[in-house]
Amino acid sequence: MTGLLLKHMIDHLEIFVCPACGKDLAVCGDTITCAGCKNTFSTESGIPLLFWPNEWDSSKRDVTHVVKSFYEKTPFPNYEKMETTGDLIEKAESGIFARLLNEQIPFNTRVLEVGCGTGQLTNYLGIAHRFLFGADMCFNSLKLANDFREKNRIDRTGFYQMNLFSPIFKKESFSLVISNGVLHHTSDPFGGFKSIARLVRKGGYIIIGLYNKYGRLTTDARRIVFNLLGDRLTFLDPYLRKSSIGDLKKFTWFMDQYKNPHESKHTIGEVMRWFDDTGFDFVNSIPKSRALSGFHQDEKLFKPNPKGSRFDHFCVQAQLLLTGKNEGGFFVMIGRKR
Ligand SMILES: C[S@@+](CC[C@H](N)C(=O)[O-])C[C@H]1O[C@@H](n2cnc3c(N)ncnc32)[C@H](O)[C@@H]1O
Repeated sequence: MTGLLLKHMIDHLEIFVCPACGKDLAVCGDTITCAGCKNTFSTESGIPLLFWPNEWDSSKRDVTHVVKSFYEKTPFPNYEKMETTGDLIEKAESGIFARLLNEQIPFNTRVLEVGCGTGQLTNYLGIAHRFLFGADMCFNSLKLANDFREKNRIDRTGFYQMNLFSPIFKKESFSLVISNGVLHHTSDPFGGFKSIARLVRKGGYIIIGLYNKYGRLTTDARRIVFNLLGDRLTFLDPYLRKSSIGDLKKFTWFMDQYKNPHESKHTIGEVMRWFDDTGFDFVNSIPKSRALSGFHQDEKLFKPNPKGSRFDHFCVQAQLLLTGKNEGGFFVMIGRKR
């Protein structure tokens, strides 16, 4: 039974490393041991507990612990009213992005989602013949993700507790690394980006979703109103007005958007510089980084696009302020490792 629980990890053992020292790991029963530093790691409910805390200089602010406690209490985005793979597919394909990813990521590739939360995207992409790895520091989110996976027999997918600043994978192990809505909840978003960018193989892709400095202004304004006048004014948020969404999802969204202990905001130009500094070429973005270029229903996500000028970025981000208010002012950037 134990062997079966860790089957996913054993099947891919060659890409795992110790989060403390970077040496190889060995699995014996339900214990994981490092061949280098001899640290041992346990498992719970089939999830390898490989979280390693940051060992930063005390002068560097570290929000990891406070953000972890927050998501342990309010796992995001949660599975309300979702029981089967059919429910998951229907929900995922109600938006364009997940459907396009599923249509365009080749079969048999290794894909890592960093900060997978309750694992909807990881489980959805893992239904087809791919090898999915969902990593997050929050155990309660991973438990929900793994329970859904087990119940629906999404067998080529595995969930791992990991701190993205101390990865448990060898560099260049993945064809695609996705991290949506995660780095802006860390003390060092660019440091976090560099840490996970190392895990992409040459010619592979990275997809990063972040709060936008301009697109997020409406959410910031609503947060001020809620703080001043109380949470009874939640109808000001369009997501919280939707009758199709249940109470648990609404509560989770409200907490994530308005009560989060830490978030930062970023720009298209800034992430383009991250790409330049780490050996990635810009490929695509949502919204498109050139003004007046629409994002299509059948968009080729991994086809290179022009970067756009500073003026383009200004126009696109100003527009995000108007159109992005429902999604909390979110933007997504795709890069390819040279
Ligand atoms: C807003 S949720 C996003 C979940 C999911 N990616 C989604 O889009 O629905 C942010 C997630 O990032 C995770 N996270 C934040 N900092 C992390 C870190 N240092 N290492 C691993 N996960 C982290 C949190 O535990 C949380 O589950």
